[in-house]
Amino acid sequence: MPDLADIKGQESAKRALEVAAAGNHNLLMVGRPGSGKSMLAARLPSILPPLSPAELLEVSMIHSIAGQLPGGKLSDRRPFRTPHHSATMAAMIGGGLRAKPGEASLAHNGVLFLDEFPEFTPQVLDALRQPLETSECIIARANHRVTYPAAIQLVAAMNPCRCGMAGEPGHTCARGPRCVADYQGRISGPLMDRIDIRIDVPSVTAADLIRPAPAEPSAVVARRVARAREIQADRFIAFGMPEILSNARCSTSMIEKMAEPDAGGLQLLRDAAEKMKFSARGYHRVLKVARTLADLDEKATVGRIHLAEAISYRIAGERLTAAA
Ligand SMILES: Nc1ncnc2c1ncn2[C@@H]1O[C@H](COP(=O)(O)OP(=O)(O)OP(=O)(O)O)[C@@H](O)[C@H]1O
Ligand SMILES: [Mg+2]
Repeated sequence: MPDLADIKGQESAKRALEVAAAGNHNLLMVGRPGSGKSMLAARLPSILPPLSPAELLEVSMIHSIAGQLPGGKLSDRRPFRTPHHSATMAAMIGGGLRAKPGEASLAHNGVLFLDEFPEFTPQVLDALRQPLETSECIIARANHRVTYPAAIQLVAAMNPCRCGMAGEPGHTCARGPRCVADYQGRISGPLMDRIDIRIDVPSVTAADLIRPAPAEPSAVVARRVARAREIQADRFIAFGMPEILSNARCSTSMIEKMAEPDAGGLQLLRDAAEKMKFSARGYHRVLKVARTLADLDEKATVGRIHLAEAISYRIAGERLTAAA
């Protein structure tokens, strides 16, 4: 598997990748061409924990229905699906002659990676809104319907605009701010609302590339991720919900109990939610990410520092759009 140690610099992007892996959160990376977004995403499988036996069983059943178990071999590696942006609705959600599972279901308990996010057909992207909320895909036919599980972690990568250079210091686009607005406008607001972590991936500096910095290998990051997942699983058992394994899958009423911030954190969250006009979903998703950050820190209570980081991930994507 490709290793995180290959990536020079990009410390904040690597941190976001670790947080996404630890809590199973959806992630969007925005950056100019060649900044390393595809490279970062390809390294996500190397830090994800292996499938539990129950998860493995579900994944194998779906892959077997889709005829995608070569030689009947099972593997405890999390699915990592990378459909091309020309994917049709049937390919993504499921359908066809015998209502086969689509990419979203094949990525069940794993990652659905959509590279060049705005290049996908808007209808196909919006069809993902329902599985992202309910963790299942429903294929309706004239006289029956088929439901496949689709508990996915959505990871997406995109350029900020058509020419890919928006936001670069010293660059002025000939098409002006419309370049950004038109390109980012292809992603609907409700779909964006479902993405917990949004980051800008800036280009690496030449100094970073030349210096052979001793980057952290995936195995070390994977250990921290595994520890954070263990803490989450233990907490869900204590709350009487052993079937939930990650913060991202937690219900909204439960996360309010599990991620109760301290006084400083609460004040920050209230101010940010008011100023940034978070949706109710946005509010709960910030809490979930903050819970994951506290778990990575092995802290029982969610503090101001965790909420500050979680809020920064939520608003990163909005800065560019606002600038346009
Ligand atoms: N931080 C980095 N360390 C080492 N090499 C890098 C780094 N960032 C980019 N590269 C090099 O640049 C190449 C292009 O990166 P990548 O394909 O991930 O860019 P991208 O952001 O996905 O671009 P695009 O928007 O065009 O898809 C990589 O194959 C790698 O060789
Ligand atoms: Mg790419």
